[in-house]
Amino acid sequence: MTSYPKVLLQNRKPDRIATIDEYRESGGYTALTESLGKVPSADVRQTIQNAVLLGRGGAAFPAGMKMSTVPEDAPFPRYLVCNADEMEPGTFKDRVLIHADPHQLIEGMVLTASGVQAEKGIVFIRPEYESAARILEREVGIARDAGFVGKDILGSGFDFHIDVHRSGGRYICGEVTAQLNALEGRRPNPRKPPPFPTVKGLWDRPTLVNNVETLCCVPHILKNGADWFKHLALTETGAGTKLYCVSGKVNTPGCFELPMGVPLREIVETHAGGMRSGGTFKACLPGGASTGFLPKEHFDIDMDFEGLKAVGNRLGTAAIMVFDESTCLVRVTCNLIDFFARESCGWCTPCREGIPYIKDLLWRIENGQGEVAYLDMIDRMARHLWNAYCAFAPGAAAPVQSLLEYYRDELMAHIEGGSCPFDK
Ligand SMILES: Cc1cc2nc3c(=O)[nH]c(=O)nc-3n(C[C@H](O)[C@H](O)[C@H](O)COP(=O)(O)O)c2cc1C
Ligand code: SF4
Repeated sequence: MTSYPKVLLQNRKPDRIATIDEYRESGGYTALTESLGKVPSADVRQTIQNAVLLGRGGAAFPAGMKMSTVPEDAPFPRYLVCNADEMEPGTFKDRVLIHADPHQLIEGMVLTASGVQAEKGIVFIRPEYESAARILEREVGIARDAGFVGKDILGSGFDFHIDVHRSGGRYICGEVTAQLNALEGRRPNPRKPPPFPTVKGLWDRPTLVNNVETLCCVPHILKNGADWFKHLALTETGAGTKLYCVSGKVNTPGCFELPMGVPLREIVETHAGGMRSGGTFKACLPGGASTGFLPKEHFDIDMDFEGLKAVGNRLGTAAIMVFDESTCLVRVTCNLIDFFARESCGWCTPCREGIPYIKDLLWRIENGQGEVAYLDMIDRMARHLWNAYCAFAPGAAAPVQSLLEYYRDELMAHIEGGSCPFDK
């Protein structure tokens, strides 16, 4: 098996978290010691920008560019929110990162905050991650005692405090603007920018929101340089390593740190131990539930943001759910659409009404009570989802639209046969 350098998971252990001493022995907190109070904020932002670090929360927004949208003369206090909501089905990399090496995230937060002069950090974490929340609370205390968090960090004059906030527990709370409403104690429906959160976010103050994995990349970039980070990727268009969460019909599901752009075939056949029970690869969802099915003709695709965009799909969170020839993709889509119908925040009509409508028609097809006319109805409703208020609804549309595009035969077999052909 090709082995690649580990960066974010270099201190991962099978049975426990890495301590602050182990993190420091591996070079942790070096970037902080060397840059805080010495490197200007603008240089921190520029290095992140040069590294082409694209946000790992799903939207792939350039992290350095986002930092630069906090206006120089923006008022204080400024906030940094670490998005650890991670409710995207199939995704568990942020949990792995926190359980493996919490100080990497803490250092990433302090460094990122120094780039925008934020003085308050909040980790917004899903309630099911109670053990991760406790780890962070404890390790933030340890970092504070060591002088890496709190007032006048390492004598630099820079103050930065970190709190851990448990989410109320809805998928929409992971969307950045809904998350701000949730933190303010409001109903967590999204806000429509502009103004963008970096200008007017939490309590109308500039607020940078980044994903756990994005923030964990920051200490390594500042320690080793932008070029080093870019060259970790296998593709010209990629940068860094990536945590791929593989689940479904593979022998060894798990979270694998690999170079950005590693081919899908290699991930499945080598790192995830190949297809389970000798099955053959039929399709996967390449980046969580809100990406479309990637059919088998793309089994050799390079798994980076550009590679998937080129075939009309998305890398999303890089949570790869693998299906074999025995999997009914209509039923998989029913399962996904159940999730989206339940998690819609109900704020806008196309999403609140459209998703349950699609759900009803799809389940009828799956249960052998479908009609050919349903396919056009589903298609029309899925298109309407693109007119919704936030990115949740287009995410829900993605698996549905790709089912119609690539697996019409499978839908027709349900309709014409009057039952699910995979039940036989
Ligand atoms: C419905 C929905 C749920 C989301 N959930 C998460 C999440 O759990 N974690 C996350 O980092 N980003 C999530 N996002 C993306 C965030 O809105 C945002 O793009 C991200 O936190 C920004 O961080 P990044 O630039 O570091 O990727 C979600 C987006 C949507 C539309
Ligand atoms: S698209 Fe869905 S989740 Fe987003 S605002 Fe509308 S109802 Fe809420």
